[in-house]
Amino acid sequence: MQSHTQLLEAETGSLKAWTPGVLRPILDPAVADIVYSSPQSLLGLVERYGSPLNIVWPHILKQNVEALRAVLRKHQVRFDVFYGAKVNKSQALVRAAVEAGIGVDVSSVYEMRDALRAGVAPARLCATGPAKTREFHAELIANAALISVDSVEELADLEACLHRVANGSVARVLLRYRPAASSASRFGMGGDELLQCLRHLSEQKQRFSFEGFHFHLGGYGFEPRVQALRELIRHVEAARGLGLDPKIIDIGGGLPIRYVDADAYEAFLRAQSGDDYRTGKVPESFYPYGGRLGACEWLDRLLAAPCVDGLSIAGYLNTQQLTLALEPGRSLADQSAVSVFRVTRVKQLASGNPVVFVEGSSFSACETWFASEYLVDPILVSRASGGQPVRAYIAGHSCLDDDVITNRLIAFNTMPQAGDLLVYANTAGYQMDLLENEFHRHPMPHRVTVTYDAAGAPVVSPDDRME
Ligand SMILES: Cc1ncc(COP(=O)(O)O)c(C=O)c1O
Repeated sequence: MQSHTQLLEAETGSLKAWTPGVLRPILDPAVADIVYSSPQSLLGLVERYGSPLNIVWPHILKQNVEALRAVLRKHQVRFDVFYGAKVNKSQALVRAAVEAGIGVDVSSVYEMRDALRAGVAPARLCATGPAKTREFHAELIANAALISVDSVEELADLEACLHRVANGSVARVLLRYRPAASSASRFGMGGDELLQCLRHLSEQKQRFSFEGFHFHLGGYGFEPRVQALRELIRHVEAARGLGLDPKIIDIGGGLPIRYVDADAYEAFLRAQSGDDYRTGKVPESFYPYGGRLGACEWLDRLLAAPCVDGLSIAGYLNTQQLTLALEPGRSLADQSAVSVFRVTRVKQLASGNPVVFVEGSSFSACETWFASEYLVDPILVSRASGGQPVRAYIAGHSCLDDDVITNRLIAFNTMPQAGDLLVYANTAGYQMDLLENEFHRHPMPHRVTVTYDAAGAPVVSPDDRME
């Protein structure tokens, strides 16, 4: 198989991408161009690589990096951005992050090795996560990567690792704080444990280089991060009191992105009822798919929020000569991929609505496994020239009753047919490959990248991981 190819045009007669009517996905122009202007090429790619097919546009990640940088520069803060590589398994996205000049936040030895293969400078690795193994610690130390220490116990393990290495290596560490609002969380440390670690680090300067503090919060509000940062002030001072020199405050990820128009989203949430779902029930929680703040506005507000002594967060960081580190995953991958499923057949159910079966499973579009729902309509690419509108849910190809990609009854302008495609937009942020597996021995879905040649023509290449 040729590894690079101009975007294929399949000979399929007339195909049309139907604009969804309810929760219409926001699309980057490069993605919209292929989906709406060249739907035949999507069909050709699925014929070649199989269904589901994940299509990645690495340059979009670089655009997202630039947009965040512009906000950070506006506030004139020192900053360091680490791409949260867990968000997607695409090697091309890791490479795009490295080419954009940012570091990589890695949560396993495998993510670390992929980042190194992508050419990251080892010192621009930041390792987070509470369960780092001995092997991971040893490789992080060998690479002089930054290590976010999650607990007193992890600090002891890291020290044991330094003893084993016994070559005079120093571990560069951040201490992960557990903000007051997350007191029940298993991640990070409360004030007493932080102090215990700080004391130890101040006595072990020949083994540890303490660089600062870290936290990561669930949820997507900027206000809890502002509060957590305020809580850290006394720990910054305690560290300095012990003769340490904190330089970084890493506020993790969680910058929100917008998948659909905010007004349309709010109208949908107000109007929806159990009748809109095959289960008869509205799920209890959703990602804020149509939130009012995108990542840049969010970061702008965080930096402008009041911190201490009349200073904003940006003002505090600047007066204290602290670097703001971020580990965005979803927001850097925003818009950078779609997942395309081919329709196997449509079955009329006795209960009324039809079900659309696709080649692929909900493990490749995983929200329903979290008792939630991807509130973005798939785009139907169909040969049908017209027809009756219909509402249908979308099921995967496994024998599991819960293998449902979309429990919501999607309003299609026309009945999908066997061989049509459903394009799920903006799936790079955890949806497409978090749970993928070879259930029923179906091969793992392929991932391809779209880049552009000197003439601006799209070029498709495989983007499979290297190990
Ligand atoms: C420690 C840490 N940093 C960064 C992230 C990335 O978060 P997001 O993709 O929401 O930006 C995560 C996600 O779980 C995380 O656990």
